[in-house]
Amino acid sequence: MMNKIILFLMLCMPVVVYAEASSTIAWTPETLNFVKHGNAVKGKALAQSCTGCHGEQGLSAMPETPSLAGQLATYTYKQLRDYANNLRSNPTMSAMVQGLNAQDSADLAVWFSTLPASLGATSNPTPNAEKLVQQGDGKRIIPPCAVCHGANGQGEKMDIPALTGQRGDYLIKTLLDYKSGQRHNDVYSRMRVIAQQLKESEINELAKYYQHTPKP
Ligand code: HEC
Ligand code: HEC
Repeated sequence: MMNKIILFLMLCMPVVVYAEASSTIAWTPETLNFVKHGNAVKGKALAQSCTGCHGEQGLSAMPETPSLAGQLATYTYKQLRDYANNLRSNPTMSAMVQGLNAQDSADLAVWFSTLPASLGATSNPTPNAEKLVQQGDGKRIIPPCAVCHGANGQGEKMDIPALTGQRGDYLIKTLLDYKSGQRHNDVYSRMRVIAQQLKESEINELAKYYQHTPKP
């Protein structure tokens, strides 16, 4: 029986390798429950090593560094595990997650989710940004951002992040990373296929649409 199982697993392996996993996180009821029960008190203590860059209250004042306050815990958890598993790479964050196990990641994710998000102040969005967010562009097969990220950019379970209130320079950086493939931890390539269709000028417009840079 054991041999059969091993043989079966070996037969499956090439498929797994070719499919190039974008994430190892699967949203099973167990994983959802695990993240939901992350310990915010422990997360707050662990977050001492994060606040230098992500801000005392999870509101970043550092260039190209995302705010984490109010973000969906499941999304933050997935990103931390993806960095830890080298499926999302960034020199700073890849080093930061070295000592974090799954429990620490859930604790941190829950802690940051409890902090109030920055109020996204949309500064005169361009008609084109407004159109991409609300209607998308059928000709280029770009679905509206709002169908996934929510009518107010508030994010949707499980892994779709809130964008409202995020720093604009970070939004630009990460959209360009999806576009180039440097960031490839989006399951089913949901963001890569969209970012590839966006012009750089549109990425700038969309970042302005969602951004809000917190006061120092
Ligand atoms: C030295 C600065 C620095 C420190 C310290 C730091 N980070 Fe980061 N963090 C960054 C930068 C820069 C990015 C953007 C990286 C990228 O583009 O992938 C980032 C990205 C992230 C993201 C992805 C957010 C998103 O919206 O996708 C999460 C989650 C995160 N950090 C959590 C943490 C946690 C938790 C800690 C503490 C254990 C921490 N960071 C410590 C600089 C830092
Ligand atoms: C089909 C659903 C879907 C649509 C439509 C969509 N997104 Fe996303 N988006 C996602 C998912 C899922 C993720 C998280 C992927 C991951 O785990 O890295 C994401 C992540 C992002 C991120 C990264 C945020 C962060 O904190 O790092 C940005 C920025 C973003 N989307 C912008 C947009 C914009 C702008 C549009 C419209 C042009 C859009 N998205 C349309 C599903 C979608």
